[in-house]
Amino acid sequence: MNKIIGRSIGETSLTKIDFVSKEMPKVGEYVSIEYDEKKILGMIESLIRGNVAINKDIFDPKTITKIKNLEGNDYYIKGSVKVLGDIEDNLKIPKTPAPPGSLIKTASSDDLKKLFQTPKSLKLGTLISQDDIEVKVDLEKMFSRHLAILAMTGAGKSNTVSVVVDEILSYSGCVVIFDMHSEYNINFKNGESKIIKPEINPIYMTLSEIKQLAHISSSAYIQERYLNEAYRLAKDELKEGSTKNQNFIKMMKNYLNSWESGEKLFRGKEVKETKQIVDVLNKLGDLNARYSSILNISAGNILSHFELGKANIIDLGSVDETAAEIIVSHILRNALKNNKEWLKNPESEKLSLTHPVFFVLEEAHILAPKNRNTNCKLWISRIAREGRKFGLGLCLVSQSPKSIDPDSLSQANNMIILRLVEPKDQHHVQSASESLSDDLVKQLPSLNIGEAIILGLMSKIPALVKISEHENKKFGQDLNVIDLWQKKKEEQKQKIKDQNDEFLSLGGDY
Ligand SMILES: Nc1ncnc2c1ncn2[C@@H]1O[C@H](COP(=O)(O)OP(=O)(O)OP(=O)(O)O)[C@@H](O)[C@H]1O
Ligand SMILES: [Mg+2]
Repeated sequence: MNKIIGRSIGETSLTKIDFVSKEMPKVGEYVSIEYDEKKILGMIESLIRGNVAINKDIFDPKTITKIKNLEGNDYYIKGSVKVLGDIEDNLKIPKTPAPPGSLIKTASSDDLKKLFQTPKSLKLGTLISQDDIEVKVDLEKMFSRHLAILAMTGAGKSNTVSVVVDEILSYSGCVVIFDMHSEYNINFKNGESKIIKPEINPIYMTLSEIKQLAHISSSAYIQERYLNEAYRLAKDELKEGSTKNQNFIKMMKNYLNSWESGEKLFRGKEVKETKQIVDVLNKLGDLNARYSSILNISAGNILSHFELGKANIIDLGSVDETAAEIIVSHILRNALKNNKEWLKNPESEKLSLTHPVFFVLEEAHILAPKNRNTNCKLWISRIAREGRKFGLGLCLVSQSPKSIDPDSLSQANNMIILRLVEPKDQHHVQSASESLSDDLVKQLPSLNIGEAIILGLMSKIPALVKISEHENKKFGQDLNVIDLWQKKKEEQKQKIKDQNDEFLSLGGDY
């Protein structure tokens, strides 16, 4: 027999039922309401507790003490339930609202267990309100409709990523993590992690990627003309295979120098714009100083390093944001091109990848920023829109949802939202997800570390979940600053003492 929580009050609608109760249920708890031979499932989205006698117009705490002495702890509980649908009819929303005064009961564990069981599922954790119910989501739908993991800093995003990745590895999936802080070199239970150096062969780069690395703006068309030609010639030279172990940027600079000095003609003509060529040379000099480590002419196509059943980790911890953007956009662009070809022509010899890939993008607000147009943002949004047709899934991870490109975020139909306090962030997330109600948004600041609201097609019903703690907890723990200071001070004191002792033992005298 399910426990009775209370009865509905006031007007009910097809989607929302208010109720009163004597005992305190929990936000996120599931309830059932039976009427018209239907069993409707709902989720408690908000709760308030009050006492009619202790109202807002009392200004003297002593009066409240007197009322409490008279009435004891007599209070009412009011709440609202979001209607999720008919349990026995595929969660269809009922056509008629519940009659006023309907009994509100706790949903049965059996019903809930069935709802969180799906074939090809991925276990995220347990219900906050009922820790005996495991929350499993549909992996196919998570993949095809993308995922966003959003929360303030330290709330448990990276832990959630690790749980998701480990579960995907149990299906021999191919996950690629763009690891902005070098934090994912951890042991996964279901597969190895493979660290991949962020190196790209300039042969596979586009001119616009080189331009971005060289900080040549799109309005600098004269500089672009010379860069373009030097890039094309250096690439041809590489393809011919006449030069080995060369620095690609130096090869480009050789062409530019020869035009600038007049040693060679540019497209059959003498060059007049030597100043612009010198500008390009300077910019390439800067590029070489900063980014030579990510350009390697002997590197194969980076996509060919991605392995099934492994967490393929692109370690971006040691490169700056521009380089990270270039590498991410380069990989996403090539993956989309490759997988389109793979589906059209599976036997093609040109393919570097012949399977689906799930990409995890940490710091998604940097890689797909709202207020800046970058190549990286373009390819993220292209995969967000078209990826599912070509076997490319995205997981956007961010502590600043308000700064993520809204187009890409709204394509992430599935969301795992952990503690989120900032109202602008909450608002942005709500506008990207139709299923996040005002009442659920109000719960976001009160979630504890590792607690999350999950939404989207991957789950038949929204849920408040305690995400499992990944066994390898290497992530983002706060530094124990005071201990570190004190330990360092002790070390310094010891060092001075040792030096003094040594000085004295050698016969020194102060
Ligand atoms: N589900 C959980 N259960 C228990 N502890 C957790 C859980 N999730 C996170 N933690 C703990 O909280 C701390 C922060 O977690 P995590 O690094 O995943 O947060 P984050 O949101 O990625 O932080 P950042 O914004 O700094 O990247 C870690 O020490 C982790 O062990
Ligand atoms: Mg993190």
